[in-house]
Amino acid sequence: MKPFCRDTWVEVDLDAIRTNVETFRSHLPKSTGIMAVVKADGYGHGAVHVGKEALASGANSLAVAMLDEAIILREAGIEAPILVLGYTPAESVEIASRLRVELTAYNSDWMIHANEFLQQAGLEAVGVHIKTDTGMGRLGVRTSEELMRVVSTLEASPKLTWTGIFTHFACADEPDTTHARRQHETFQAFLQDLRHAGKKLPMIHCCNTAAAIAFPEWGYDSIRLGIGLYGLYPSPYMKERADVSLVPALSLKTRIAHVKTATEPFTVSYGATYCAQPGEQVATLPIGYADGFSRLLSNRGEALYNGTRVPIVGRVCMDQVMVRLEPGAGQVNDEIVLYGKQGDEEISLDEVAALIGTINYEVPCMLNYRIPRVYFQSGEEVGVFHPLTMKHAPLERCK
Ligand SMILES: Cc1ncc(COP(=O)(O)O)c(C=O)c1O
Repeated sequence: MKPFCRDTWVEVDLDAIRTNVETFRSHLPKSTGIMAVVKADGYGHGAVHVGKEALASGANSLAVAMLDEAIILREAGIEAPILVLGYTPAESVEIASRLRVELTAYNSDWMIHANEFLQQAGLEAVGVHIKTDTGMGRLGVRTSEELMRVVSTLEASPKLTWTGIFTHFACADEPDTTHARRQHETFQAFLQDLRHAGKKLPMIHCCNTAAAIAFPEWGYDSIRLGIGLYGLYPSPYMKERADVSLVPALSLKTRIAHVKTATEPFTVSYGATYCAQPGEQVATLPIGYADGFSRLLSNRGEALYNGTRVPIVGRVCMDQVMVRLEPGAGQVNDEIVLYGKQGDEEISLDEVAALIGTINYEVPCMLNYRIPRVYFQSGEEVGVFHPLTMKHAPLERCK
């Protein structure tokens, strides 16, 4: 029984998550661990289910963008190490301490405040990964002097423990490797300076999916596996290189809510941008831009019906969208695939991204709380979560 009433849902294939972790496991040196990046609710796939599957498949730890995302994982019973990759206000260290979540830091003042908060509250020390900015221009220390200052502050903070050092690549998914190599050299120089200063280095990590594919020898203690975990390539170029074979985990499905066959021309949706001709069948689907199904797909995107492509006609509305079917083909409740495979056809997230002028990362991230996630393992449904109602299966179906 499904804990949702509207027949529009995301399916996540947990076997694909497992395969992708195993693929990276065999692509990397044995000594390199895998930190599964499940920020943004597991890139729209669902952080808890994906995180658990990644850990069960050989990942060693999880990473999120913000502490709130780590809270969800701990509440779901996940005990593995979790690193927050983004900024955490110093006063929130109390939560990190209670939940044993590691934080990213790059600033001495932050460390002083965080240490004070923890001392005053009499809490356990928090693990801190120092972020170095080697060419991303986002978070992190940029010079060796800054790095040394931050390390000294950290060492003088009894309630903070230095557990990691990392950097993030800006262009590792591109054919021109100049920037990535320069970033790696800068990172190596930082590590060397620390060694020369007699510092014992903690966990070292720098590779995202693209760098892990292109430069597995830069794996150090761990990679941070994001997009590849979900079976997507970081760029069309990385897909073309085909160094690793990844399996996409996500499909987006719905069922026809209404069908009409034109006996005379009628216009479809806001703006009347499409006119159905006599004999054409138009099916209405219960999904729209308020679900994260982009309005940019209006009169451009396609869906799969009976294993063949059918065009989206008219503008995508807030909650509904129309497709054109072969005359007489469609019935209410018939299944339509919006992203993913049906028969031999596939609408990949890469295709959708290209159509709407973005990257594949954004397409699943856009699918929001209105869409339930249904999890499959060995072809069997193993869980459902509906973020809108915060309900897990089982629940009386609403039909
Ligand atoms: C700091 C950091 N590390 C790792 C990742 C994972 O990157 P990817 O999804 O390209 O593997 C991200 C994602 O944006 C990130 O911000």
